[in-house]
Amino acid sequence: MAQEQFMEIIEVNNDRASAKIALQGAHIFHYARDGERPLLWLSETSDFEDGKAIRGGVPICWPSFGMNNPRLPQHGFARTALFEHVSTKELGDDTTEVILKLRDSKESLKLWAYKFELEMKITISDSLEMELTTTNLDDKSFEITQALHSYFNISNISNVKVKGLETKPYLNALNSEQCVQDGDIVFEEEIDRVYQEVSNGIELIDKNRTINIKNEGSSSVVVWNPWIEKAKRMSAMRDDAYKEFVCIESANAFEDFVVLEPTQIHTLKATIY
Ligand code: BG6
Repeated sequence: MAQEQFMEIIEVNNDRASAKIALQGAHIFHYARDGERPLLWLSETSDFEDGKAIRGGVPICWPSFGMNNPRLPQHGFARTALFEHVSTKELGDDTTEVILKLRDSKESLKLWAYKFELEMKITISDSLEMELTTTNLDDKSFEITQALHSYFNISNISNVKVKGLETKPYLNALNSEQCVQDGDIVFEEEIDRVYQEVSNGIELIDKNRTINIKNEGSSSVVVWNPWIEKAKRMSAMRDDAYKEFVCIESANAFEDFVVLEPTQIHTLKATIY
């Protein structure tokens, strides 16, 4: 496995599940329920290098999703920033809660001129709960787009379908066209879409298991698989790794952006079970 020993990480093991979280990016890169194969996909060629996002798990895209703010790096700067470990609490034998925080810094203010606090609360049990809370500590309002960019571990891309997004409008990021989803999503080519007006749960149906995703504080969901050609161009990923994962990202993307006035707070929550 990659050199995860070079990064500071938090390991969780309780009666129901295990997890690993890197302080860089508050990035959960392993989550498995007891006796099951991992729910999150992790690239075996991921670098685990300071300043480079881990490929897999759940990178945090913040304060900008994609290239929404062209002055920021793709998906913002949080995924490569070092978070502070606030606490790890055992809430009984079967549930562990980990809290990490990021504050504005000299470096962040150069990129994005706002004071903020970003808290990631991860609750590990039969389900995985991720709560990303942004607080505006500045004296002016700011706008964010964001995502909990989950890479799900699947048996094979040809075995999976996504339910719950049928009839939803979506932006096709490959050609900027606005479309409407017809039926379940199956993967037979590159898919990079921002679904809108999503208030219901989503199911990722695989051969021998179904993963449920429930989002709060968000009405957009990004569905992404790079397929053959883009996978070859992606960093920290084997050419054929596109067969092993699907990203279903709990987001506030494009028109679903969030504006926070001074002292205001917003929480984006994703529950996976
Ligand atoms: C997805 C985007 O969220 O992230 C894709 O929709 C992008 O367009 C993918 O390729 C991975 O991005 P990155 O920056 O981690 O290589």
